[in-house]
Amino acid sequence: MSDDFLAELGAEIKPFRVHVCLGPNCTAKGSPDLLQHLEETIWRLDLQNAVEVIGTSCRDRCEFGPSVNVYPGPVFYNHIDRGAIDTIVSEHLQHGQIVDRYVFRGEPRR
Ligand code: FES
Repeated sequence: MSDDFLAELGAEIKPFRVHVCLGPNCTAKGSPDLLQHLEETIWRLDLQNAVEVIGTSCRDRCEFGPSVNVYPGPVFYNHIDRGAIDTIVSEHLQHGQIVDRYVFRGEPRR
């Protein structure tokens, strides 16, 4: 859904959306725990009005999972763990700085 469409519906548009892959490969690598950690961190830092967190289907980068996408962008992050979540929150979601060391360098499967 586009932001324009959401605005027409009167839906709240937050500055950032984070998609955490809950596909089978990322789930096996611990993504449900990462989703919970991200949600708890967002609430602890009172960022719930700035960041929407969504668990998603496969992001087509299974061999590099756990996979996370941050919008606007999207910025594709991979090999994510709890420490990476903390860094992405503090650098990207709080200060708008893309965390280069977790950025996906390959090509998603089509
Ligand atoms: S299962 Fe996460 S990228 Fe495919």
